[in-house]
Order: sequence, then C-alpha cells, then structure tokens
Amino acid sequence: MTKLLEVKDVVAGYGDGPAILNGASIDVQPGKVHCIIGPNGAGKSTLLKAICGMLKVRQGSVMFKGQNLKGKRPDQVLREGICFVPQERALFPKMTVRENLRMGGFSMTDKATLEKRIDEIEERFPILRERRDQHAGTMSGGQQQTLAMARTMILRPEIVMLDEPSLGLAPKIVQEVFDIMKVMTEDGITVLLVEQNALMGLKHADWGVVLDLGRTLFEGPAKEVLTDPRIQELYLGGQKAA
Ligand SMILES: Nc1ncnc2c1ncn2[C@@H]1O[C@H](COP(=O)(O)OP(=O)(O)O)[C@@H](O)[C@H]1O
Ligand SMILES: [Mg+2]
Repeated sequence: MTKLLEVKDVVAGYGDGPAILNGASIDVQPGKVHCIIGPNGAGKSTLLKAICGMLKVRQGSVMFKGQNLKGKRPDQVLREGICFVPQERALFPKMTVRENLRMGGFSMTDKATLEKRIDEIEERFPILRERRDQHAGTMSGGQQQTLAMARTMILRPEIVMLDEPSLGLAPKIVQEVFDIMKVMTEDGITVLLVEQNALMGLKHADWGVVLDLGRTLFEGPAKEVLTDPRIQELYLGGQKAA
C-alpha cells in the first residue's frame, strides 16, 4: 500500500494538559477518501489539529512524503500541501466571497495566478460566482461550506482535511458536500474526513478509521468498517449498511 501520509501512534494534548490522543494512527493513501468515525470526544478533531501542527505531537510520528511533520507550524504544514477546514469553517464573514477566495491564496506571491485560479474555482462552483460580492456571513450554511471547501483548492493542496463538513446542514445540502469532495478527488486531492454522520461518511469513503478514547481501534477499507457487526453495534448506532 502506498502511503502519502502515515500517522503513527501519536500522543498529543492541549498545552500542558493530559494526553487526548494516545496512540492515534492512520494510513493515508494518495487520491483516496478517508473517513474517521468515533463517538463525541474521541479525539477526531484533535487528530486533525495534531496533523496540521496546531497541537504539539508529544510522541509518535506524522510522516508526509518521507519527512516528519512533527514540530512544524500550521503555516509550514499548509505550505507542504496539507489544508485543514475546521468545523467552524474559518471564513471571514464580513468579507465578500471573492475576498474569502483571495484569502485562501494569501501566501501566493504571484497575484495574477491567484486571480486566475479564483476564476477557475468560480467556473466550477457557479454559486460562488453568483455570490461573489456578497458577504460570506450572509450566505446559507451550505453555500458557506461550499466556499470553505472550494477555497482550499486555490493552493492546489495534496491533502484536504475536513472536520464535520455536513454538520448542521439540511439533508439535501449534505449531498452537495459529498459532491464537492468528489470534485476534489477528481482533481487528485486526497481527502481526510471526520464525519458525525458515520454511515454516510463511510459510504463515500475508500478507507475507514475508528477512533475512540484517542486511539485508533480499527482501520481498513470503508466497506469492511461498514459491515463489521461489532463496529455497527458500537459506532454506527446498530445501523447496517444497506
Ligand atoms: N481546546 C481544547 N482544550 C482542552 N481540551 C480540549 C480542547 N478541545 C477539545 N478538548 C478535549 O479533547 C477531547 C477530544 O475532543 P475532540 O477532539 O474535539 O473530540 P471529537 O472531535 O472526536 O468529538 C475532549 O475531551 C475535549 O474536551
Ligand atoms: Mg470534533
């Protein structure tokens, strides 16, 4: 199995506080969609934060294309090609849609290329062109999520990490989030997803990871996670994959 990112036995916590992650591991394969599931408080968001450098990795390793990201700052991890969309989406609500897209490429020195990429994004997501001069904070939840996801594509990242992208969205809109994920993978982007709607997340994923109490309990093909009777009982609310 080729691994683009290999998270191994990571121990991490907030500040000097107790370890929240205590043996979190995940094998991230190029071009695939990975879905991390697990109960509330399991450490799913913490794991994404540890990967992107927002939290110090105390033990274990985060190997990305042969180098350890441990100790790197978030801006350095971003420059390496790993982009994180936090649960709260981190948009600038008082800025327009177009300005938000520009912020996605603030580190780019070649502004002409930046504008060209924004045009391309607008082409692919017409709602963003339609709303280009609207303040991001006044758009619907689904539109804001579209903007947050599309914005990552400005930097042409290798990996996009999405924390609960469907949270609070109407069921009809949730499908749009997964459609955007598909656009990302068609572009060769590798996706690392945390999803509270475990069943739906796994159905759209190639690889599934079960995290509980800060530890990886199981990882394997998403189909196996979906059909494992014990995982169904403990983590999928007894739901069976149809
Ligand atoms: N900023 C923080 N400071 C201290 N502890 C935190 C912080 N954020 C989360 N935690 C703790 O980390 C644990 C895991 O949280 P989190 O990673 O958000 O879980 P999940 O995303 O799986 O629901 C929880 O016990 C939570 O209280
Ligand atoms: Mg979370």
